[in-house]
Amino acid sequence: MPFLTNGTPNTNGHTNGGKTTPVAPRLFSADRPPSLEEFKKLTTQSTPIQYPLASEITANVPIYELPDYSSLSPQQRSALQDEWYHILLSGPGVFVTKGLYRDTSLLDTVNDVYAKIIDEEKKLAGKRGDHFAGSGANDRIWNSFSKHCLKGPESFLEYYSNPWLPLISSAWLGPHHRLTAQVNIVKPGAKAQISHRDYHIGFQDNESCAKFPKALQVASQFLTLQGAVAHSDMPLESGPTRLLPFSQTFEEGYMAYRIPEFQNFFLEKHVSTPLDKGDGLFFNPALFHAAGQNDSADVLRSANLLQISSAFGKPMEMIDTYPLIEATWAGLVDTYKKNGLSDEVRTFVANVAEGYPFPTNLDRRVPETAGMAPESEQDLLIKGLENGWAKEKLLAELQKMKDDSRA
Ligand SMILES: [Fe+2]
Repeated sequence: MPFLTNGTPNTNGHTNGGKTTPVAPRLFSADRPPSLEEFKKLTTQSTPIQYPLASEITANVPIYELPDYSSLSPQQRSALQDEWYHILLSGPGVFVTKGLYRDTSLLDTVNDVYAKIIDEEKKLAGKRGDHFAGSGANDRIWNSFSKHCLKGPESFLEYYSNPWLPLISSAWLGPHHRLTAQVNIVKPGAKAQISHRDYHIGFQDNESCAKFPKALQVASQFLTLQGAVAHSDMPLESGPTRLLPFSQTFEEGYMAYRIPEFQNFFLEKHVSTPLDKGDGLFFNPALFHAAGQNDSADVLRSANLLQISSAFGKPMEMIDTYPLIEATWAGLVDTYKKNGLSDEVRTFVANVAEGYPFPTNLDRRVPETAGMAPESEQDLLIKGLENGWAKEKLLAELQKMKDDSRA
């Protein structure tokens, strides 16, 4: 029995909070800031190995001139994937693919579809969730993947038949990944984003982030790949993505990127690479990055952002939570009335309902808090208990959440 009857851990002779244990804490400390010195050391190296298949390395960013896909043998494709994997894992964390889309007339057609979608959405009243920009500074299409398909199936078919996309994605994620996309059009005068890391943990506030064990904070980078397809030319003055090469290798980075000293260091040391229309940019989601400031007179900096997810983010079976909550709400309310928000009530809520509000629909489920994640089913159940909701009310709210989350 490792625990004493009063709940004190058996400490095995080493010090930890007045007691002793040989076991290191599983969590990063929310009180002790990550080391800026360590971060500086990691991110001020120059590219330590060369990437022979890259045509050049500019400001530590390897740049690949993509040939015709069909001209390459499987071995040549695999050799490219080896370099990309190395870059993302332990190299600069980011690379450019020149000529990812060579047919710019296809991009013009797709841009017309995007413009129609944006026009229609502007006509709809309502708040739009944009995690970083003030409203009006840019145009955003959430879930451009689905909307593009339904608005322009022909160009969608051609655009998403580009075999470079799965080659690049599978270099990092392996097979069976799921691609999603969001369009971002940044207007002249738009300010830069604050440096950050991306989904998953980049969508959590600091307190939520700190609850994830160290190994999972590192592992989360393997669950997604970030990409961008330039739908316009992006000269430097238009503010293409600011990047801090090697910053993805900083294990405590999700705890660090909100800290002003780290943000200031990013402002000093970031690099940017100009892109031509049709170029791609791919990076590890743990890379510190930020959209740049658009100082151009007239460039509408337009990108289709690709967010590609590993197959391993999914459970083995589907759980439809609605009928389970319907069947147990009355009993849960009874227990709550007797015992309040006891450990048992919290446990049941955590088991029966979803605690993670993704995947979702970011048009309808606008993030309300600094944490940038919308409310979860578990949040809703706790709210329902605390406010004494009858079953009908709870189920109506739950159904609305499910409907709003659909594509
Ligand atoms: Fe981002």
